[in-house]
Amino acid sequence: MSTKSYAALTPTSPLAPHAIERREPLATDVEIDILFCGVCHSDLHTARGEWAGVVHPVVPGHEIVGRVTRVGSAVRKFKVGDIAAVGCMVDSCRTCDRCKRNLEQFCASLPTFTYNSPDKHLGGMTYGGYSERVVVDEAFTLKVPANLDLARAAPLLCAGITTWSPLRKWGAGKGKKVGIVGLGGLGHMGVKFAHALGAHTVLFTTSLGKVADGKRLGADEVVISTDADAMAAHAGSFDLIVDTVSADHGLDAYLALLKLDATMVLVGAPPKPQQVSSFSLFFPRRILTGSLIGGVAETQEMLDFCGTHDITCDIETIRIQDINAAYERMLKNDVKYRFVIDMASLKG
Ligand SMILES: NC(=O)c1ccc[n+]([C@@H]2O[C@H](COP(=O)([O-])OP(=O)(O)OC[C@H]3O[C@@H](n4cnc5c(N)ncnc54)[C@H](OP(=O)(O)O)[C@@H]3O)[C@@H](O)[C@H]2O)c1
Ligand SMILES: [Zn+2]
Ligand SMILES: [Zn+2]
Repeated sequence: MSTKSYAALTPTSPLAPHAIERREPLATDVEIDILFCGVCHSDLHTARGEWAGVVHPVVPGHEIVGRVTRVGSAVRKFKVGDIAAVGCMVDSCRTCDRCKRNLEQFCASLPTFTYNSPDKHLGGMTYGGYSERVVVDEAFTLKVPANLDLARAAPLLCAGITTWSPLRKWGAGKGKKVGIVGLGGLGHMGVKFAHALGAHTVLFTTSLGKVADGKRLGADEVVISTDADAMAAHAGSFDLIVDTVSADHGLDAYLALLKLDATMVLVGAPPKPQQVSSFSLFFPRRILTGSLIGGVAETQEMLDFCGTHDITCDIETIRIQDINAAYERMLKNDVKYRFVIDMASLKG
């Protein structure tokens, strides 16, 4: 069925109205009328062809919350009228070891990402949430706890799970000193989660104007990362650092802040390779690793934690017509702290 969307037709064209096809719901599919879609920096990297393998047109958007309008005959999780959410994946092989371990994001055959992945049903590529509706297998849908505001919950589907997963995997909690680098969409959720998990939370920012917000969001300390003395004061003291930065920046300055055998996790995805000095990893021994979103079960666990602890994202709601201006503001680190598109603007 023909569906209204906003797409980048080429890497250099602004996002503009575009019609896409959605499949008729199959037995295990849920059709969702999209109410809100968060704006991730990955949307911008992809729309502008900054990463390898991008195929245009691109309809970005993988922080989707909406209302179920149709369900296939075998769907058990939802009925028409329910609220459903979709994150960064819409399918995977479901049979490989990684899928069986609930790590669908690392599926040996690659998961089907919500946008810019080969579409198993219609051919071509998948299209994301900057659109009226989406049709997704119920196995890749999520439930939003009823107490959460839907617009503020939408960015949990990427920014939330992408910071939650490494914090959990690497043991953020009481007695641990945890750093979050960058206060954007991911970073602000990293700060909230590290704080909620009980860690001593330190925000690293390049923006002097974000110090007060960092503390309000849960940071015990805020360090201006361009201040070498302030950085040096934390040398060798961190158990874990999660780096959410979207552009080129030095990693060695952060590695120097880790304890022996402590871990730095990269979740930011700057298009160009980053340099690391070997010495940063063996004076003393340290771990540098990465993390990609999270599995479906882990995403539901994160949403449920947010329900219990009343955690949502700090957002600025925009109309889809303002998406190109929002991208420019994101590039200026001027997001407080996630743009969320009110998808009613696409219909009206
Ligand atoms: N691994 C994954 O699964 C995954 C999932 C989602 C997104 N990502 C990636 O994560 C990155 C962040 O996404 P986002 O949506 O949170 O982006 P965002 O909202 O634009 O935030 C990025 C933040 O990084 C800091 N920053 C930007 N440019 C910088 C520079 N040149 N030097 C130092 N700091 C800089 C800024 O924070 P301050 O103003 O505080 O310095 C900025 O607010 C993107 O590359 C995105 O593609 C990865
Ligand atoms: Zn994302
Ligand atoms: Zn698999």
